[in-house]
Amino acid sequence: MSAKVIDGKAFAARVRAQVAGHVAGLKERGIVPGLAVVLVGEDPASQVYVRNKGKMTVEVGMHGIERRLPADATEPELLSVIAALNADPAVHGILVQLPLPAHLDADLVINAIDPAKDVDGFHISNVGLLGTGQKAMVPCTPLGSLMLLRDLLGDLSGLEAVVVGRSNIVGKPMAQLLLAQNCTVTLAHSRTRSLPDVCRRADILVAAVGRPRMIRGDWVKPGATVIDVGINRVEAEGRTRLVGDVDFDSVASVAGAITPVPGGVGPMTIACLLANTLTACCRIHG
Ligand code: GUN
Repeated sequence: MSAKVIDGKAFAARVRAQVAGHVAGLKERGIVPGLAVVLVGEDPASQVYVRNKGKMTVEVGMHGIERRLPADATEPELLSVIAALNADPAVHGILVQLPLPAHLDADLVINAIDPAKDVDGFHISNVGLLGTGQKAMVPCTPLGSLMLLRDLLGDLSGLEAVVVGRSNIVGKPMAQLLLAQNCTVTLAHSRTRSLPDVCRRADILVAAVGRPRMIRGDWVKPGATVIDVGINRVEAEGRTRLVGDVDFDSVASVAGAITPVPGGVGPMTIACLLANTLTACCRIHG
């Protein structure tokens, strides 16, 4: 292996420590940032994420609020929970854990969140602000990925960036962020023709397709920086393992730097959620 392994866990711990320092300063003014997480149903992966978010929220000194609704909750029930959180001055950030049960319209629900409290950056007005280069709440996973890239590479101007995956949560906002850093951006996806050739152009390759170990060493330009956003559960030798969208061993022998799974982008997502909550709180309190 020749690639540097990017330690997202350590970087995220530093971000959380910075957030905790600011939170302590706000507390001296009698202000406690509050983050509300709304979970509908009992999806096991979502329950784990929500538990981790709650734990880290309290660790940085914020107020954590959890609202759990049953899997058969109606849209009006969910919208009334969101309306109450929008109106609550102790709540500065609101996150509705996705995916929602199929009978609920996720777009409608997300757009019911006050955009100033939309710490996921999924509300249509934050999407529009990001796309037009204005001050937006930025989705946490792309923001965390960009922090790792800037820390490693500094100025990204003129670099070829290929993002594989076009989700609203990661792929599209990641492409916007890299464009704003003056990268030449290709937004590729599972239907892109000659995907390995497209990937081989990249100085920065971001994998966010949700397919275990899809990107292999011979898809990667020597020395490229590879950010693996994938978190896939696979069964191996009777155990469940987490693997990314990148085939770590073969890519690490070609790339210049690579994020591991777990311990790469994942911890950055929660750290950025807390940073966004702090930002929302500071904007509200001036
Ligand atoms: N489910 C998977 N990733 C995310 C995320 O970043 N935010 C929310 N709200 N739900 C998710």
